[in-house]
Amino acid sequence: MKLIDNIADMKSYSDRIRAEGNKISFVPTMGALHTGHLKLIKNANNISDICVVSIFINPAQFGPTEDFNKYPRDLDKDKGLLKEIGVDAIFFPKLEDMYGDHFQTYVEVEELQKPLCGKLRPGHFKGVATIVLKLFNIVKPHYAVFGEKDYQQLQVIKKMVCDLNLDVDIISHPIVREQSGLAMSSRNDYLDSGQREKACSISQALFNIKQQFDTGITDRNNLLDSAYSILNKANIDEIEYLEIVDGKNLIEKKLAGPGDLVAIAARLDGTRLIDNIRL
Ligand code: PAF
Repeated sequence: MKLIDNIADMKSYSDRIRAEGNKISFVPTMGALHTGHLKLIKNANNISDICVVSIFINPAQFGPTEDFNKYPRDLDKDKGLLKEIGVDAIFFPKLEDMYGDHFQTYVEVEELQKPLCGKLRPGHFKGVATIVLKLFNIVKPHYAVFGEKDYQQLQVIKKMVCDLNLDVDIISHPIVREQSGLAMSSRNDYLDSGQREKACSISQALFNIKQQFDTGITDRNNLLDSAYSILNKANIDEIEYLEIVDGKNLIEKKLAGPGDLVAIAARLDGTRLIDNIRL
């Protein structure tokens, strides 16, 4: 497994792999790898000759009051996990190399960045799109795999790739859940066992909406009402949003239809959790 910590070496590694006629798959991460990441990385490993994983905690996607400083970091543990899976290279650039002096060029996906998380995290998707574009330019992958838990991020990236004519196939990977239903996330590390139990009600609320939809209920308010009761009963009182949106443009729907997305963001004693389900 190659350990690459600088941009020039990453570029020349990818150039060589490409010149040899091999396909590169890429999984960008911010580290603190969990089973969800590992499943996605195994998928990436299977579809290409060479699999590259990046680990970079991107300050540009965190707001000034968000958890950039306390975001979980354990590079040695992550390296061990990736070695076990058998990825070909890990790219872990330094902050000062990715955002050098007077960095001032950003990418924005103007409409898709606005709803859902975009309303509460101004600048977040600008930071995500910018770092992902930079990573694509450095790693030069044929395929890049993203998890569906960050559904809005996935749509933002797909749109950027389409609008900017990038030569990367974006592959999505289904949400990986714990047995309790809780969607796996690096931020679950912040939760103690009581909070984890409470957090399960987030996925329960989504499953409840899907069950109701499957019985023929399509009115947004009817669908959301019992989900709110599940969340309130579990004392999840900080619901940032719970919405039914079109699965592609993320536009709010009054009447739900097949393929729509139910998306939620909630805070549990300060920890922000997101989840979603397709109808
Ligand atoms: O999903 C993430 O972990 C990050 O948003 C990403 C795609 C690695 C960009 O920093």
